[in-house]
Order: sequence, then C-alpha cells, then structure tokens
Amino acid sequence: MERSDILDNELEFKDRMLSLGLARVSEAAAIASFYQIGRGDQKAADQVAVDAMRTQLNMLDIKGVVVIGEGERDEAPMLYIGEEVGQGWHGAGGPEVDIALDPLEGTTLTAKGLPNALAVIAMGPRGSMLHAPDVYMEKLAVGPGIDKGVVDIDQDPADNVRELAKFKGLKPSDITVCILERPRHEAMIEKVRSTGASIRLIPDGDVAGVIHCAEADKTGIDIYMGSGGAPEGVLAAAALKSMGGMIQGRLLFRNDDERGRAHKAGITDLDRKYELDELVTADVIFAATGVTDGSIVRGARRVGDRLETETILMRSASGSVRRIHYSRKLA
Ligand code: FBP
Repeated sequence: MERSDILDNELEFKDRMLSLGLARVSEAAAIASFYQIGRGDQKAADQVAVDAMRTQLNMLDIKGVVVIGEGERDEAPMLYIGEEVGQGWHGAGGPEVDIALDPLEGTTLTAKGLPNALAVIAMGPRGSMLHAPDVYMEKLAVGPGIDKGVVDIDQDPADNVRELAKFKGLKPSDITVCILERPRHEAMIEKVRSTGASIRLIPDGDVAGVIHCAEADKTGIDIYMGSGGAPEGVLAAAALKSMGGMIQGRLLFRNDDERGRAHKAGITDLDRKYELDELVTADVIFAATGVTDGSIVRGARRVGDRLETETILMRSASGSVRRIHYSRKLA
C-alpha cells in the first residue's frame, strides 16, 4: 500500500473516539477470561476471550479487518486473519482500520493462575501494522531514553547488557533482562549471566515482557531479549509506539510451511530486521486489560459483589497513556 493511501485512511481514523471503545473490547475479553483463571483449561479460557472480544468488536462503528488474529481462516473459526469486523460492514460507516489482537495473551498463565496474562488489542489505519505470520520472531526491546544503536538485535546478548549498563551509568550486574524460559534460550541466558546481569525468566507472555521495559522504574526490567510469537511482536510494538522505547524484530522460520505463511502475508525479504516504525508504520491505538495480576496492570478481580478490571489504553498520536479502572455489578 502507498504511503499516501495510509495517510488518507489516517485522516478518517478517529482514534480519539475509538480508543474508549477499544478499552471496552479488551475489558470484555478479560472479564470473560476471569472465570477461567486457575481452572486448568487453556482452550476454554481462550475461547471465552475470543467470543467476548469478537462480540464487542462487532459493536464498533468501524470497517475493521483482523490482520493479526487467532490464525489462518482454516485454523480459527473466529477472529481469523482477514475477518471483517465492525458495524461499518453493515452500513454504519466508520473508518477503515486494521486490527491486531490477542484476546488472551497467556492462555497457560490464565489456566494456571500465574501473573501477566492480558487481553490485548491494537487498531490503526489500513496498512499500519505488519501482517506478521504466525511464526517466531527474534525480539529485542528497551524502554524510552536509550540512544539508537546502544543495543541491537545483531549484537551479542552479553554486549547488549554491557552497552546498556554503560549508557545508563550502571554496572552490568545492575541490569535486569527479561527472557522467556525456553530451552532455545539456554545459550542466550548463559551469555547474559556471564555479565553478572539478573534475568527475570517468564514462563509465557512476552507482550507483557516487552511492555515491562517501557516502565523500567516500576517493573525493574531494563531489556527484553529472545524469540516468541511474531504476532505478539507487532502487538508489543504497538504498545511501545505510545509508551516510547524501541523494539527490533526478525522473523524466524523453521520450515517451508512457515516460509509459505510469510509469502502469503506479502513478506518477501525473510531476513529483514524490523525496527519499531516498520512493525507499526502509522499511529495506532492500543488497549490491554489485565486478566491475572501483573506489574503493568492488575488482573480482573471480584471485590464484594462487583467485578473490577484495569486497562492500559494508549494513543500513539499523542503518546497518551491512560489507566482505566472499571467495575460492574456481578450478575
Ligand atoms: P499463548 O497465550 O497463545 O499461549 O502465547 C503465550 C506465549 O508465551 C507468547 O507470549 C509468546 O510470544 C509465545 O507464547 C511463545 O511461544 P512458545 O510457547 O512456543 O515459546
């Protein structure tokens, strides 16, 4: 898509109005998932979140297309890549938008009652987000205020820690790195540990992992490293677009089927290193509601006869970050 086309869509994209609607969408998914926390059934948890998110999305006055969703059309009956959502398709008008979503980011976290599960959604004008295939992506992220080039996905992990420490005027042992706990990260973990840095190993949920870097003072996490889902990489980039910071990503392919997914998504340069502004190329809005407790937002909870949620809602055009506390009477 031409840049001028994207700008035309941007003019139509009434993101200030839509952002509150977007918060409702992630709230609904989190509320639905609440009843599945700690019940050991990740599929059921995901399904209720998908149902709730789709219902709410379809109430918005948008002509939306899911570009990052639950999977290809033949794999996912709802919120599949390419699904058209919103009242705009039924005569209500509204802007043409692309939507990236993960109704339940951290299905296992939810099923096990572990922290940092989120309901996540981002929306932007058509063509504003990389149509990332469902493959792995190598990621590197830091929060705001770090000069370009201090850390780089092509630099050795130990050097990234040392350079970041030097830039911050700290010792490498003062740096905390967030990494998904996976066998594929063993070598990286060893290199990071050789610097003396502390590692926060997370069992799942790298959207939260990346977002944590943007609020290092609050979360204690300085840098995120490692590979996780490519769709999650785009969602995390959408969050950093408002919060500040940088993320780099490179798609990783294990076989021809995965390379085929990239071609289908229109990606021809399979080795490309994506910067934040290439993962998310225009201003977007982003909402994440806590399902289980995390350092960014609290999880959904029952308080007396009410259910409460906390949502972080952001608009990259203004860089605004809102936290919305919502409560409703339990039925
Ligand atoms: P789900 O919510 O779909 O289970 O994803 C959780 C997650 O940890 C993501 O945050 C991460 O990007 C991805 O899985 C990592 O994949 P894998 O578990 O295959 O290493």
